[in-house]
Amino acid sequence: MNKQALITGASSGIGLATAQLLLHKGIGVTGISRRGQVAELKGKNFTAVALDLADSNETDSQLKLLLKQQAFDYFIHAAGYGEFGSIEQFSVAQIERAIQVNLTSALVLCRQLIPTFRQRQSGKLIFVGSESSLTAGRKGVIYSAAKFGLRGFCQALREDCASDGIQVSLINPGMVRSPFFDELSFAPAEQPENAISTEQVAALIGHILDSDDNIVFDEVQLTPRVKSIDFSARKSK
Ligand SMILES: NC(=O)c1ccc[n+]([C@@H]2O[C@H](COP(=O)([O-])OP(=O)(O)OC[C@H]3O[C@@H](n4cnc5c(N)ncnc54)[C@H](OP(=O)(O)O)[C@@H]3O)[C@@H](O)[C@H]2O)c1
Repeated sequence: MNKQALITGASSGIGLATAQLLLHKGIGVTGISRRGQVAELKGKNFTAVALDLADSNETDSQLKLLLKQQAFDYFIHAAGYGEFGSIEQFSVAQIERAIQVNLTSALVLCRQLIPTFRQRQSGKLIFVGSESSLTAGRKGVIYSAAKFGLRGFCQALREDCASDGIQVSLINPGMVRSPFFDELSFAPAEQPENAISTEQVAALIGHILDSDDNIVFDEVQLTPRVKSIDFSARKSK
């Protein structure tokens, strides 16, 4: 039987590159994003689920339906977006949405996924954190609040699930060249050494999924060799 992966954020960037890699390895992929299907994954062993992860109740009921049709071996949580600025610049709705998508959705999805993994006594979960899971800086009040929270969730989940054969990993990339920056006022400088590629993050995820069932990559940090940032980019906030 082919392995099956559930990937959030499969329509773009890290999630898309990971979906492409896993499909290439013969793994069936179900992808969650608001867009659902994207041209890059059409015609492959890919099932698209169009879902806004900001809506916890809808996420909960969609996953319930999905789990009736499909069991998963792997869960990769890559959905997320950047929200940067001073705290007083944000509306309550913006704060709630960013925390829902970047943090709460992981908890809501795992609430139902973990019992299925426990039943099978196996399962690998990989969460995409950030260097903002480890260190907070200027304008990072919301993003780091969510990503630090995600890191705490992963640490506790890893401890809760280890004796049931479940492996929980958190990867914390520095800047990755992806559409993540399309709506932001900064981006990695254009020379290749200033950003990780989405394929490099996907390769790391593939490596973790291929690893022995008796070890866990608790957390992996990866950063570009140089870290120049272009503040002349796109939208100004
Ligand atoms: N790029 C970086 O420098 C960087 C660095 C460290 C960590 N990260 C983290 O890596 C993850 C992936 O980012 P990326 O660089 O791949 O960015 P990306 O190319 O913008 O991809 C983000 C993905 O998340 C999905 N998504 C966003 N909001 C959603 C929502 N409300 N409901 C469902 N899906 C949603 C998007 O799909 P739809 O738009 O179709 O909904 C898309 O598939 C994020 O968690 C981000 O925080 C990124």
